[in-house]
Amino acid sequence: MAEKSTELIHSAMITKDPSKLRLKPNLQDYEQSRKNFKWSDADNMVDWFPGGKINMAYNAIDRHAKGKKKDKIALIFDDGQGHVEKFTFGQLGALTSKFANVLKKLGIKRQERVFFFLQRSPELYAGFLGAIKYGAIASPMFPAFGPDAIRDRLLDSGAVALVTDSELKSRVYEVKNLLPELKHMIIVGKDAAAGELSWEKEMAEASDMFDATPMDPEEFSYMLYTSGTTGKPKGVVHAHKDIVQIHLSTNWVLDVHDEDVYWCTADLGWVTGVVYGVIGPWSNGVTQVGLGGRFDPERWFKTIQDYKISVWYTAPTAVRMLMAKGDDIPKKYDLSSLRANYSVGEPLNPEGVRWAMEVFDSKPFHDTWWQTETGSILITNFPEMPIKPGSMGKPLPGVEAAIVDENGNVLPQGEEGALVLRPGWPAMMRQIWNNPAKYNEYFKNGWYYTGDTAQIDKDGYFWYVGRADDVIKTAGERVGPFEVESALIEHEAIVEAGVIGKPDELRGNIIKAFIVLSPGFVDSPELKEEIQKFVKKKLAGHAFPREIEVVKSLPKTRSGKIMRRLLRARELGLPIGDTSTLED
Ligand code: WT7
Repeated sequence: MAEKSTELIHSAMITKDPSKLRLKPNLQDYEQSRKNFKWSDADNMVDWFPGGKINMAYNAIDRHAKGKKKDKIALIFDDGQGHVEKFTFGQLGALTSKFANVLKKLGIKRQERVFFFLQRSPELYAGFLGAIKYGAIASPMFPAFGPDAIRDRLLDSGAVALVTDSELKSRVYEVKNLLPELKHMIIVGKDAAAGELSWEKEMAEASDMFDATPMDPEEFSYMLYTSGTTGKPKGVVHAHKDIVQIHLSTNWVLDVHDEDVYWCTADLGWVTGVVYGVIGPWSNGVTQVGLGGRFDPERWFKTIQDYKISVWYTAPTAVRMLMAKGDDIPKKYDLSSLRANYSVGEPLNPEGVRWAMEVFDSKPFHDTWWQTETGSILITNFPEMPIKPGSMGKPLPGVEAAIVDENGNVLPQGEEGALVLRPGWPAMMRQIWNNPAKYNEYFKNGWYYTGDTAQIDKDGYFWYVGRADDVIKTAGERVGPFEVESALIEHEAIVEAGVIGKPDELRGNIIKAFIVLSPGFVDSPELKEEIQKFVKKKLAGHAFPREIEVVKSLPKTRSGKIMRRLLRARELGLPIGDTSTLED
């Protein structure tokens, strides 16, 4: 069965004529590299300090700011409203040094947590890298987060400083009294109140000279919270050593070259934005575009045209949204600058790959697979390799990926099972903050369990099947059902809630909530709308249930856990499976 489906798709394979590629791929021979590659080879692609010390931000910015690329444009920032600013590597070197000096003046200690709650902005890039350069642990938060999401992150991490702006700060103040460790609020936007520091003033006064702190490779550089099946979001912590693999994967997979103009559409609140929208491209010395504002098809195509984007990294939901607008819009723009397209975050439909072939003049999307925890692209379609539309591609040289059964035994080709990785790649997370037990849950039978299920075809291509757990991917963003349920039951009309992902043509999945109403409340469209607004405001703009169904009761285990699996099975008309632990 599996073989048949891959056979079918096999016939639609997109091959590449090397003579037609505009630039020679950095990775010339995948199979050869896979055989011969050693991680120590990649160590030489980044700069080290004496005694085996390293700094991720030094590699992203300072080594170019001090070198031949000092005056090369690193960032073209377009706020999406007609305001454009350009920054050279030299200027970013100075700005990141200034912010490092601000942290020094505040007495921030090495490895203390410095958080950012900002829209995409030059300040966010400079602050984030400045904090890493200083030796703090930096963490950007998605600007659509509400007070609950903000509190969970700042509290768990024990963040001591937060950079935010005059608009977003009100959401922080709703929970500020619950955050005793948060000592410094730095406000971008000139109207800092009493008890706050002004970004503009502090940056103006700070020196632009700061020598990046030489860090032990295993010391932490950044952290990002992400969702699992149960409990609150977990703080995934990454080390400075990650830079080795971030640099290499950007070079080999995104295949950036000196003359490229690169654009990653992901927000810095997600790992794609951090790793491939800040660190990787700059470590490779490439010019990148940052676009502010909301998703807008016309503006996106115009961005490609106006800045002559040559390498583009985006997400399947965005691709589907562009496709849905029809082919007349892209026809209005000159998109001939594009050389290669990439996508991440959720399965990319074969139609999306083929649509790109037409709209972008034979430039398909290359699907890439990875996770917040993996810190780097691990399975991917390389530029040098034929693409099987719908497949995630093959493992990065140096990475061992497999499909296994419950006992960790490797399954034969074509069989579906758990997607696992051999632990130890350089960009692998180092910790779940404050929670070694959660960290240990990832590792079993000598493997790292991704939580995804997949299969491998006879040519060694990996095919995504689904999540093995209750984690929801909606529009590529990862949402934990528990967080949404927790927000829902704080609404006075709701006694109990169970939340699942429901397949959706456009968004991959939408969040669906089953709720039990409190006595005295009646199901109505108005009530549902009010509940949606409530969750959006409390938790996050993207993590609200687009569908709500009122039910009399929720299926639970005898120990009282909601059986989301049953809710899902019922919703999708699937077999309900083992119900021996069901309450009644
Ligand atoms: C989960 C990780 C790291 C990039 C952004 C997502 C899903 C990721 C793909 C892909 C199918 C994918 C998986 C994975 N996912 N890439 N190419 N095809 N699914 O990071 O938020 O940590 O989510 O996203 O389910 O486990 P994340």
